[in-house]
Amino acid sequence: MKITVVGAGNVGATCADVLATREIANEIVLLDIKDGFAEGKALDIWQTAPINMYDSRTIGSTNDYEMTKNSDVVVITSGLPRKPGMSRDDLIATNAGIVKTVTENIIKYSPDAILVVVSNPLDVMTYCAYLNAKVDSKKVFGMAGVLDTARYRAFLASELNVSPKDIQAVLMGGHGDTMVPLPRYTTVAGIPVTELIDAETLDQIIERTKFGGGEIVKLLGTSAWYAPGAAAAQMVEAIVRDQKRIFPVCAWLSGEYGLKDIYLGVPVVLGKNGIERIIELELNAEEKALLMESAEAVKSVMDVLDGMNANA
Ligand code: LAC
Repeated sequence: MKITVVGAGNVGATCADVLATREIANEIVLLDIKDGFAEGKALDIWQTAPINMYDSRTIGSTNDYEMTKNSDVVVITSGLPRKPGMSRDDLIATNAGIVKTVTENIIKYSPDAILVVVSNPLDVMTYCAYLNAKVDSKKVFGMAGVLDTARYRAFLASELNVSPKDIQAVLMGGHGDTMVPLPRYTTVAGIPVTELIDAETLDQIIERTKFGGGEIVKLLGTSAWYAPGAAAAQMVEAIVRDQKRIFPVCAWLSGEYGLKDIYLGVPVVLGKNGIERIIELELNAEEKALLMESAEAVKSVMDVLDGMNANA
């Protein structure tokens, strides 16, 4: 298996490191536009192999897409990260141009690749990759739900003082402040979370989850990378090992949940063909309203992108 990670910044390099260390693929190409940057990061990652005892090989490339040829999966992390005070949507103009160029180059050399988009604003950059890749939407999707759910699960694990492994949760909607964590579908080793935690504390955890990315931007002055990189690598693993794992993924909807022509976070089955199935949950009226609100927020940014394309 060959995986390309585009963008050797914090998220891309972390993703490549996890892919290599966990031997998710035997060949990993890390590509960046900045001269020598990807080569340097890839060399550093490769030099952990004798220490961490693995043989997956990571190589770097300065914008030479020929080296990415015949990749099975491509993770796109390129683009600027947020600075304090910025919303993810503030990045649209710069990052849309970058994601377009990257996608066209990737598809030229790997027309059959599955694309996992990580660039922000996530839902709209996934749409941007889809428009430019011109392939089946089952093969172009975005990483956000795995990260947002991980944050939610980590906060719950701290609060309850239990292993994060035992916390299962579903989170839907866009990767932004309107995301929709679903307490009704949150369990701790099979026990509904509402039996273990009071409503007020759970509400606080849900609020903290929605702003989980912003909390880190505030602390670090730039956006997170360990959890985003690991989350993208976990999605790649589900694809290359055909695990049929159920993750919340930013997927193209064609009528599911009453939504059409929009990229939005929903639970899906991930396997060797990419999105193998979208799972449609029975949402109650309140959950549905929150999902629609999130869809509207995403749609308004998708419209900005469509407007930019129309004027291009
Ligand atoms: C975050 C960025 C990567 O949520 O969107 O940390």
